[in-house]
Amino acid sequence: MLSRSKILGHGYFLPSKILKNEDLLAFVDTSDEWIFTRTGIKQRHIVLKDELTSDLAVMASKNALKSANLKSEDIDCIILATTTPDETFPSTATKVQTQLGMKNIPAFDIQAVCSGFIYSLQIADSLIKCNKAKKILIIGAETLSKIVDWSDRRTCVLFGDGAGAIILGQSDGKSGVLSTKLFSDGSWHDSLFSDGGPSKNQTVGKIRMNGQDIFKQAVNKLSEATLEALSECNLNIDDINWFIPHQANQRIISSTAKKLGINDQKTISTVRLHANTSAASIPLALSTSIENNTIKNNDVLALCAIGGGLTWGSCILKL
Ligand SMILES: CC(C)(COP(=O)(O)OP(=O)(O)OC[C@H]1O[C@@H](n2cnc3c(N)ncnc32)[C@H](O)[C@@H]1OP(=O)(O)O)[C@@H](O)C(=O)NCCC(=O)NCCS
Repeated sequence: MLSRSKILGHGYFLPSKILKNEDLLAFVDTSDEWIFTRTGIKQRHIVLKDELTSDLAVMASKNALKSANLKSEDIDCIILATTTPDETFPSTATKVQTQLGMKNIPAFDIQAVCSGFIYSLQIADSLIKCNKAKKILIIGAETLSKIVDWSDRRTCVLFGDGAGAIILGQSDGKSGVLSTKLFSDGSWHDSLFSDGGPSKNQTVGKIRMNGQDIFKQAVNKLSEATLEALSECNLNIDDINWFIPHQANQRIISSTAKKLGINDQKTISTVRLHANTSAASIPLALSTSIENNTIKNNDVLALCAIGGGLTWGSCILKL
């Protein structure tokens, strides 16, 4: 059994269309002031009608391959986390596989809503440790604008579209994934769900949410999961160089960091520009922060996410 997996490359892609809070006023009864003070969001990227989750995923993956200096044929597994697959089946991962020219390797989707990237990371880390794969492409990609109810101002202002990807490979040294923790509790179903599904009513459905339930659960569960992941690898809060929580809402991000005793200077926040991109939010925040030189090699990162289910989880890694 190998000791560890590590990030070999990263990439992201955002659709070119930007919807600012001010632009929403044309069709939503809201204000920039309400959205910004409650959520920290100023804008979100939105796909065009014919832009698909797979299109965003392919672009992010190509950027990740380039950053890792790898070719399509070097990848031996694809895991794609999404809540907005192109189709009910087959998996969006298999569409991405074909578009990237990859053949005869496993490719599958993970559905854990906003925690999907952390779930994928634990699965990929385990596959690498067990020597079932050597270089895994992990993608978080979403077109949430397509399942938002644009007549529901309590939810439609919160979400955006985008994709982030990493390549996880073998590590011989001390850097890499140090610990991962995953959790779920299905009794919270009614707090955050889609009111459609193939088996339930043969529709895709729209996002339904009890915002206050989610807010309270998020702060507690994200902080507890981060502490558990730290404990598993015998590290402390002070060892963290960068805290990268799920980018749902600035108040959740700040409250969680405060509860953990992590200061704002060590907390990555991209929610202002991207809004909540569900499974794409952590890889987007990670990739943009490495690209702009905020996060550097050998930094210790604490990632955590929570989403519908509820599902939640955390990961400590050394870049
Ligand atoms: C969604 C959230 C910002 C709402 O904030 P809140 O303070 O709980 O607001 P409430 O839902 O209690 O609504 C307060 C008022 O604002 C109004 N309101 C809701 N959305 C609004 C909007 N976009 N613009 C203007 N007013 C709005 C409500 O109608 C309500 O008005 P009323 O008192 O006259 O009925 C907050 O609950 C939250 O951040 N929750 C977490 C959501 C999240 O991040 N989910 C994803 C996790 S993966």
